[in-house]
Amino acid sequence: MSEAESYDHPDVVLCPGGPMLLRGDHVVQDSDGVAHRTTRPVSAVCRCGKSQTKPWCDGTHQVLPAKLRPA
Ligand code: FES
Repeated sequence: MSEAESYDHPDVVLCPGGPMLLRGDHVVQDSDGVAHRTTRPVSAVCRCGKSQTKPWCDGTHQVLPAKLRPA
């Protein structure tokens, strides 16, 4: 894959006000040290801290006031 192609399809995308998207296979370690393997082509990792399915985003960030959403 060329550098230009990798910029078109980044492995990690930080969504303004929302989750971090991971493309491909990853293992995410949560704050308790538990490892979670991705199971989808694209996985959303919670960045707001309010998800009930951490480390994954469950959409809760969408109902938070703007000041509580991740940058
Ligand atoms: S970023 Fe979506 S629930 Fe936290």
